[in-house]
Amino acid sequence: MRGGSESAVRLEGVSITYHLPDGGRYPAVAATDLAVAPGEFVALVGPTGCGKSSPLNVVAGLVAATTGRVLIDGIPLDGVNARASYLFQQEALFPWKTALDNVAVGLEVRGVPRTEARERARGWLGRVGLAPFADRYPHQLSGG
Ligand SMILES: Nc1ncnc2c1ncn2[C@@H]1O[C@H](COP(=O)(O)OP(=O)(O)OP(=O)(O)O)[C@@H](O)[C@H]1O
Ligand SMILES: [Mg+2]
Repeated sequence: MRGGSESAVRLEGVSITYHLPDGGRYPAVAATDLAVAPGEFVALVGPTGCGKSSPLNVVAGLVAATTGRVLIDGIPLDGVNARASYLFQQEALFPWKTALDNVAVGLEVRGVPRTEARERARGWLGRVGLAPFADRYPHQLSGG
């Protein structure tokens, strides 16, 4: 159920263990509980490699928790979190998609029809002065 005193984001016993190419396992994040209220601003702070991005990837639904679960507005997360807006630590563009289609992909994941997604994406490219580059691929664009 949404609303009320429900946490916007809740982690219940979320641990994250990565599988390594040599067959080993790397326990990156120990079982963690966290509740974020609607409108609350939370920062994860710590030294490099301590496990900040990993839980964000779990909340975004891009990495599955090894144990525990994530609830978004009280509803257990299953798959990609279509309600999350997520700015990756590193640039995350699809090299085989044009600038326009890279911008549109987030809307498409949310179920916006492709034609409308591309139309809205074109508008956003225009707002940042990239309209002339809509049909270029990432490697044909400057880094900034
Ligand atoms: N896919 C992976 N496979 C194996 N180990 C991983 C993987 N992703 C992250 N790790 C390891 O898990 C730990 C936590 O990684 P994470 O990216 O969450 O750290 P971080 O706190 O965001 O670091 P930084 O401040 O450098 O961004 C690190 O030791 C990292 O090397
Ligand atoms: Mg990180």
